[in-house]
Amino acid sequence: MSIKLEHLNYIYSQGTAYEKKALKDICLEIPNGEFVGIIGHTGSGKSTLIQHLNGLLRATSGELYYNGENIYREGYHMKDLRNEVGLVFQYPEHQLFEIDVMTDVCFGPKNQGFSQEECEKRALEALRLVGLKEKYYKVSPFELSGGQKRRAAIAGVLAMRPKVLVLDEPTAGLDPKGRDDILDQIAYLHKESGLTVILVSHSMEDIARYADRLIVMNKGTVMYNDMPKKVFEHYRELEAVGLAAPKVTYIMHDLAERGVKVGTGVTTVSEAADEIMRVIS
Ligand SMILES: Nc1ncnc2c1ncn2[C@@H]1O[C@H](COP(=O)(O)OP(=O)(O)OP(=O)(O)O)[C@@H](O)[C@H]1O
Ligand SMILES: [Mg+2]
Repeated sequence: MSIKLEHLNYIYSQGTAYEKKALKDICLEIPNGEFVGIIGHTGSGKSTLIQHLNGLLRATSGELYYNGENIYREGYHMKDLRNEVGLVFQYPEHQLFEIDVMTDVCFGPKNQGFSQEECEKRALEALRLVGLKEKYYKVSPFELSGGQKRRAAIAGVLAMRPKVLVLDEPTAGLDPKGRDDILDQIAYLHKESGLTVILVSHSMEDIARYADRLIVMNKGTVMYNDMPKKVFEHYRELEAVGLAAPKVTYIMHDLAERGVKVGTGVTTVSEAADEIMRVIS
């Protein structure tokens, strides 16, 4: 089972002077249980693409299948899709609106029809998962810092227990430790519960560390869709479109050019350390 996009196009403000072709002939398949990274220059269409995955935006043309069902067919239950595909927006303040954090995180499960008690149980579980401290549960979401807002927004989606979690730059506004904590937690959920994760990120390091597959967007098209290691082999082409491979990739290439016999397919710091140790021992 999977999410499958076939020749999907999306045009903003079609037929007006502001018309903008944001997605062009996207063909993709994301199997259930995968951890997928999406990267691309600003304006390349990442946010537009992921807003199609839970039906928030409707393709101008083309098809989208969720577990084999065409979500654009007449009578398709969009609500079921929204229950299964949880989307955390790029700007978390767009997602928070209730009087306090607890009520906000309860909103999703409440909408799904669960009792108050069950909603609170799910909300508590989600708030613990994202590491938001208890003292914030009764605070207005608007009083939170950027990083805390982000955690609250992620908790609000996790409380709905989605099968697919789509995150648009979830670590923006977090310090490095906060960033690692959140992504480690998401990676843990992915591993333990088979949650499909689709992560839009600016960080090649994060993608290299967590993702099974990397989709590179460029000007509304899919430029690469492969294992991160394979994509990073094209680092010159990535540079040409304003992107880059993880920094360790460059270090390994430099070492190789200087005659150190290290492999250059290394993409994380721990792999680089192992590779260097292998060569010098
Ligand atoms: N509401 C909108 N109306 C018109 N054009 C839009 C709208 N939202 C996005 N666009 C345009 O569509 C294109 C794709 O935008 P999108 O937000 O999907 O890019 P992105 O890859 O998410 O960028 P970023 O990295 O800055 O978040 C851009 O050219 C953008 O200017
Ligand atoms: Mg975006």
